[in-house]
Amino acid sequence: MNINEILNIKYPIIQGGMAHISKASLAAAVSNAGGLGQIASGGFKAEEVREEIKKVRKLTDKPFGVNVVLMNEDVEDLVKVIIEEGVEIITCGAGNPAPFFEKWLDAGIKVIPVIANVKMAKKVEKLGAIALVFEGAEAGGHIGSLNTFAELPAIKDSVNIPVIGAGGVYTGRQMLAAEILGASGVQIGTRLLTAEETPVHENFKRALIEAKDSDIMVTGIRTKMPTRVLKNDLAKKLNEIEMSGGDLDEFFKLAKGSGKKAVEGDVNWGSIYTGEGLYFLNKIGSVREILDGLMKEYEEVKKYFKENL
Ligand SMILES: Cc1cc2nc3c(=O)[nH]c(=O)nc-3n(C[C@H](O)[C@H](O)[C@H](O)COP(=O)(O)O)c2cc1C
Repeated sequence: MNINEILNIKYPIIQGGMAHISKASLAAAVSNAGGLGQIASGGFKAEEVREEIKKVRKLTDKPFGVNVVLMNEDVEDLVKVIIEEGVEIITCGAGNPAPFFEKWLDAGIKVIPVIANVKMAKKVEKLGAIALVFEGAEAGGHIGSLNTFAELPAIKDSVNIPVIGAGGVYTGRQMLAAEILGASGVQIGTRLLTAEETPVHENFKRALIEAKDSDIMVTGIRTKMPTRVLKNDLAKKLNEIEMSGGDLDEFFKLAKGSGKKAVEGDVNWGSIYTGEGLYFLNKIGSVREILDGLMKEYEEVKKYFKENL
């Protein structure tokens, strides 16, 4: 894996932007541990992102990125803040990045779009992306329809820029699997939700640790915004509304602001975005432990296969 060389980081691991969650504390912890930490813009105003950028610089001298949610109302302001603050790396998704690309490239920013299929991969390569993240539907939060481990090789074959695999990576074994399928690095989100440095309420972390692997579901299919979440009172109610076939006003009313609610501790009526690997979330540990653990297993399994196959 060589995305670490391109991004000037020690480990080929990017922390995905997580709305309401990935602030300076998490981003700096990931960067200090050798990965690429990222500030989220989902759920934050452009000026709040500016403050987090300033904070992260006080906490680390290592590279970090900012995740641009393109459908944010104040995306123009956000793009301005990113350029003014001299951010060097961004990931972007949930919308069309084309109108902003030239500005980003002129400012010398390394742009890594998050894409969900071959068509989008080819498009962002043409626009000048330095690499791309392919996020499969195993991931937590808003998802596409194609899965990481089935689609990754197709994305790899369709472009000439490095591909970063996201969605379903919790172990060194999965990192190696992603590499074999063509990934130059991985992006992780859910694996970091129970980290000490992740600024979510203790209830949020406990809910994930106590849940079983099968306690996940996808809500919002009828809204065309499918979202992988932990099964709780809210998720069951949203599902009931969708399945009843009625109008979706009540769905939107309940879903509005629910991500923030969960982060603040309401694990029954907040939306806990989570990926498929709940089995691997069994304690609260430091970001450094998580990243070192991933790399240790990745190196060991790689060595084993080199020697035994
Ligand atoms: C709680 C949560 C919030 C997320 N918010 C965002 C976001 O704001 N922007 C984004 O591009 N991706 C978001 N994602 C996706 C992650 O950046 C990352 O790609 C994904 O978590 C990788 O899959 P994994 O959860 O299986 O590790 C979110 C994921 C989670 C779990």
